Amino acid sequence: MTKPLIVLGVTGGIAAYKSAELIRRLKEQDFEVQVIATAAALKFVGDSTFSALSGNPVISDLWDKPHDVEHVNIAKKASAIIVAPATADFLAHLVYGFANDALLATLLVAKCPVVLAPAMHTEMWENPATKENIATLRRRGYLIIDPATGALTGPDSGVGRLPDPSEIADVVKQVVNRKSNNLPKDLVGLNVLISAGGTREKIDPVRFIGNGSSGKQGRALAQSAIARGAKVTLVGANLNVNVPAGAEFVSADNANLMKEEMILRAPNADVVIMNAAVADYYVENPQTNKIKKGQDKINISLTKTIDILSELTKNKRVNQYFVGFAAETVKNQTELIELSRLKLASKNCDLIVGNPVGHDLGIGQDLNSAVLVSKNLTEIVPEVDKLTLADAIWDFVAKDLAKV
Ligand code: CTP
Repeated sequence: MTKPLIVLGVTGGIAAYKSAELIRRLKEQDFEVQVIATAAALKFVGDSTFSALSGNPVISDLWDKPHDVEHVNIAKKASAIIVAPATADFLAHLVYGFANDALLATLLVAKCPVVLAPAMHTEMWENPATKENIATLRRRGYLIIDPATGALTGPDSGVGRLPDPSEIADVVKQVVNRKSNNLPKDLVGLNVLISAGGTREKIDPVRFIGNGSSGKQGRALAQSAIARGAKVTLVGANLNVNVPAGAEFVSADNANLMKEEMILRAPNADVVIMNAAVADYYVENPQTNKIKKGQDKINISLTKTIDILSELTKNKRVNQYFVGFAAETVKNQTELIELSRLKLASKNCDLIVGNPVGHDLGIGQDLNSAVLVSKNLTEIVPEVDKLTLADAIWDFVAKDLAKV
């Protein structure tokens, strides 16, 4: 059997030296590696290093073998493309669809998943132009591995470093293995309503009670459902991520707004997923002026919010499917399954996704593990990226829906 081909694009940043090690890590994952390097990348690392490690001649100039039309051939053969490091200049070119070197031309042809690992100085990464370019690329479906923090090229340090090559290789492996590259169209014709993110309850005009939810899992659920053919509405509270292309977005930043928007939309949905981290308590009368730092202690009185999910399932239609999450700080999986089972019954859901949280788990992170608990079935999903977990949740739901 031939090995999956990974195209490793290397652009002209100092971190290009780490690309040599990335070739090693990719080969350890049993991939064939083809390096496409820009002229600037080859000023940092010689092409003999790349070709010796990959076992393939480096492509760097479209004019070397014009008869082979290499950019088209390689783009079609690749299982995934990873650009590491991706410079600010390269990202800008990609946004505008330039094709003036072998790497950009290949990317413009490619239909496979593309992962970008930007690396640059902090100021360049934080520049509004780069930020907008990154947001545009994310919206178009490129997977971005955020740069790490640490020592940069000069004496300075900050965010902008290329992450460890083994971490990048792991992401590439997940992307290639992800079934969703070839997802079944089993949600065609279904309206899906997903809540995501974390609500914020006002204390005064500048302060709130909130949580660390980023919206990544909800976004992934929306993305996966769209790929499977569903019509998706995403009701989001304070999302740190972009809304996936193809989803209708409704903003609902606090528990009360979220309740209203979900109650309004749930009757038209075939599947409802309450993924948002909703506040359990809110401040009934937030102060209209900023609270002054006077007294040594102040008390804030909190009132219980309405449980949106339980409210929605009271009016559950025949064939309507409800998914809840159970965010739990637990000692072990058995406890997580037990607590999920309790929420399955108390909230009258068809499926509960039990999610271990706290101690750097779940909320706000890129990876997630879960137990999927329905009336008759329990499935365990080990730690995976949030898109892979979303695929597993939809696999579960689609199977259940097919039984009806
Ligand atoms: N949920 C909701 N409305 C709320 C609170 C939670 O709809 N006011 C939903 C969440 O979106 C999730 C499920 O209920 O799908 C479980 O949320 P979780 O925070 O795990 O549990 P709680 O119901 O808040 O109970 P507890 O915090 O006591 O575990």
